[in-house]
Amino acid sequence: MRQDIYLTGQEKFFDENEIIVSKTNAKGHITYANKLFLDISGYSEKEVLAKPHNIIRHPDMPRCIFKMLWETIAEGKEIFAYVVNRCKNGDHYWVYAHVTPSRDMKGDIIGFHSNRRVPDRRIIEQEIIPLYQELKKAEDLESDRKIGLEKSGNMVSVMLADKGLAYDEFVMTVGQQRRRGYR
Ligand SMILES: Cc1cc2nc3c(=O)[nH]c(=O)nc-3n(C[C@H](O)[C@H](O)[C@H](O)COP(=O)(O)O)c2cc1C
Repeated sequence: MRQDIYLTGQEKFFDENEIIVSKTNAKGHITYANKLFLDISGYSEKEVLAKPHNIIRHPDMPRCIFKMLWETIAEGKEIFAYVVNRCKNGDHYWVYAHVTPSRDMKGDIIGFHSNRRVPDRRIIEQEIIPLYQELKKAEDLESDRKIGLEKSGNMVSVMLADKGLAYDEFVMTVGQQRRRGYR
């Protein structure tokens, strides 16, 4: 991932009752993007169709989150994740994504589908941004990308073990854990 990517620091928002949708083929190349996806990201349909989904990748996203995403969906399971995306003009927007595999009649995975909703602001600011910053720092500190990825992945495993939660349980309950004093 290039680190010199242009960012404005400006956040974009969408409505609580809206859903940003995209679909990909099995390799993660975009096969569908709804109007809101295009409107918020600032890309035309032509610019995103058949492109790898990392076209909207934001450099603040830790690589270990996408590794986990791909491992999970490739196994045929669904995953929820908090993601910050980069718009074409360098703005960004946070989403709470639900990514699911699509199968053909034989049961083979033929693609993936992501629905994204407005995330809880408090969760983003108090939990996810600090966590992702720590993970990103661990990844960036290593000159060997593979070791960096292993380190951030281990940090996630340790955090989950500490809390006694699986990743999906963590994502589902992240706003409630501090209040209940699990932290
Ligand atoms: C259905 C689907 C939706 C995805 N949505 C996003 C997204 O909104 N933002 C993003 O950065 N990556 C998304 N990804 C993950 C990308 O494929 C990619 O793994 C990620 O951008 C990291 O890119 P990199 O491996 O080049 O670092 C999605 C993947 C799938 C299969």
